[in-house]
Amino acid sequence: MKLVTLIFSLSTIIISCHGLALDLDHGLSFSIFPLRLKSGLGGHYIPETSCSSWRLGVEAHNIIDWKTVPQECEDYVGNYLLGKQYREDSKAVTEEAYKYAKSLNLVGDGKDIWVFDIDETSLSNLPYYADHGFGVEKYNATAFNEWVDLGTAPALPESLKLYKRLLRLGFNIVFLTGRPDSQKDITLHNLKSVGFTTFQTLIVKDSTEYNGKTAVTYKSSERKKLEKNGYRIVGNIGDQWSDILGTNTGNRTFKLPDPMYYIS
Ligand SMILES: *[C@@H]1O[C@H](CO)[C@@H](O)[C@H](O)[C@H]1NC(C)=O
Ligand SMILES: *[C@@H]1O[C@H](CO)[C@@H](O)[C@H](O)[C@H]1NC(C)=O
Ligand SMILES: [Mg+2]
Repeated sequence: MKLVTLIFSLSTIIISCHGLALDLDHGLSFSIFPLRLKSGLGGHYIPETSCSSWRLGVEAHNIIDWKTVPQECEDYVGNYLLGKQYREDSKAVTEEAYKYAKSLNLVGDGKDIWVFDIDETSLSNLPYYADHGFGVEKYNATAFNEWVDLGTAPALPESLKLYKRLLRLGFNIVFLTGRPDSQKDITLHNLKSVGFTTFQTLIVKDSTEYNGKTAVTYKSSERKKLEKNGYRIVGNIGDQWSDILGTNTGNRTFKLPDPMYYIS
């Protein structure tokens, strides 16, 4: 009863503030305040709302095949990545993954594996993207490869923590990346230098076998090979939907945030 009165008074205040003639007879003004119908003057948005909706659309895979971050969202995406939200969102994912991993009773034959993607999953390219408009600039393969070849990408801290915990639980780790075979050595070096020291294997994209193939096709095919070799993919984590779609995806998949680029 009190709540209804409160909502009613809020509506009254809003009506008097905006001078709107809301139709109280339809009861719409009694709905929960943030969900009330936007009508004319009442429908003003804070400037960043649409970028936040864009990001949600991207993470939920409603927005697909996008080439660059919308120009007007550069600040929004930059603040998200450099602020605490990116870290917290990542942690929410990896904690859930750990909870799941811990609940299992592994056979202990070394065949239980967890697949990790590399870019924006294990290693962060944020130093590069911070210099290139956080995904607003069109992808430049030359510049990006120069950055990768430095081998100085930092670890994503929540992923590194998950990785260490999984090792302790007895999982074997497989890195499965879209990086080409020409970058295998520098990637091995980079992974080891930031703490990813123990793993079953690093699978890179064979440029002949998978020439022109999508990440979904390539990764599905490599996961299938793993399972043919007797491995059980118990968990799979990546920042792209193409890491977790397709076949042989593993018993559970985990999607890390990435509002910078889209790979199909
Ligand atoms: C891409 O990056 C390279 C290397 O940094 C640079 O020389 C080139 O101008 C860039 N291309 C475009 C289209 O920006
Ligand atoms: C994973 O999925 C397979 C196939 O459905 C099932 O046999 C297996 O028990 C599952 N493993 C775990 C750890 O849930
Ligand atoms: Mg990735």
